[in-house]
Amino acid sequence: MNLDQLNQRITEIQAEVAAALTDINNVDAVRSLETSVLGKKGSLGSLITGVKDYPPDQRGQVGKSVNRAKTLIKASLDERLTQIQSDQVTAANALAGDFDPTLPGQPRPLGSVHPVTAVQWEVERLFERLGFTVEAGPEMETEHNNFEALNIPASHPARDMHDTFWLDNGKVLRTHTSPVQHRSMLKFGAPLRVIVPGRCFRYETLDASHENTFHQVEGLLIDRDISLGNLIALAKTLLTEVMNRDVELRVRPGYFPFVEPGIEIDMNCAICEGSGCPTCKHSGWIEILPAGMVHPKVLEAGNIDTDKYTGFAFGLGLTRLAMMKYGIKDIRVLNSGDLRPITSPTRIGGPIVWSRRKTPA
Ligand code: PHE
Repeated sequence: MNLDQLNQRITEIQAEVAAALTDINNVDAVRSLETSVLGKKGSLGSLITGVKDYPPDQRGQVGKSVNRAKTLIKASLDERLTQIQSDQVTAANALAGDFDPTLPGQPRPLGSVHPVTAVQWEVERLFERLGFTVEAGPEMETEHNNFEALNIPASHPARDMHDTFWLDNGKVLRTHTSPVQHRSMLKFGAPLRVIVPGRCFRYETLDASHENTFHQVEGLLIDRDISLGNLIALAKTLLTEVMNRDVELRVRPGYFPFVEPGIEIDMNCAICEGSGCPTCKHSGWIEILPAGMVHPKVLEAGNIDTDKYTGFAFGLGLTRLAMMKYGIKDIRVLNSGDLRPITSPTRIGGPIVWSRRKTPA
């Protein structure tokens, strides 16, 4: 093929490619066209391989022509490829309506604190302001700390009030946070202001208001001249602050071997506002704060000088308080993995606003 024939052939190939491209609508077809033209045995590819067969003085000219053609053809193939791909995205978008696959993913909330934890933090902050220390104790407790040190000897009928999980090692899963009263007295002595939030366990049949695993906050204040009046005033401050409303209290006698006298502090039901509902068993009142003056035997067991000091203790039902605060009607949701009933608090560190999540249709 002389130079003129070659250029003629190149022009033909370019025209063929241009014609073929107008009919091609998919990526694979573009790729196979590329092979049939630019591949080693392709229409232009074979001309490129043949450059070496030309006399040396013509090779430069021939090489230039075929390479220029190669560059132009490659560019037109690439352009068609880009066009096909962008047509595909447009078609997919049209199918999916407004869906834009190039938008960044929506950030999802990573989770939030448990309602009981939220109330616990609030209670802790309040008591820290009042000069209390926040203590913790083990969930696996000795029988001595859970019972004897609290004036509940083995023969005591009050043991029947505690449906205890006994462990093979002779210890118990603490039935209340009160054992930490004893631990704190031994650790710090008097005067003493301490609260103990923590998990407690009782062998109970589950229903809407009973769980085998629940939270309490023990409170203990030991000082000179402490009276029940101080305790009731503190209860009022505590419940009013946590519930964010003016809480009404009712004080009744209550029996606990580790306090004397013992009382039950009830607050008016947040769910029915006192008019009576299933949650408050139609009484309008919720038992929330069993309490009393620390029994001298408990002070003595804790090496506290009973001539100098008196004190009060309470066992706030933290789980119940969280249920009241957030209007949770069934205690069982708190230990389940069901995240539906309430969504994240909008804010931790002030009044917490919870919103009901809409049940999906
Ligand atoms: N520990 C008691 C209970 O769990 C509650 C309580 C604590 C009562 C402190 C009085 C004083 O039932």
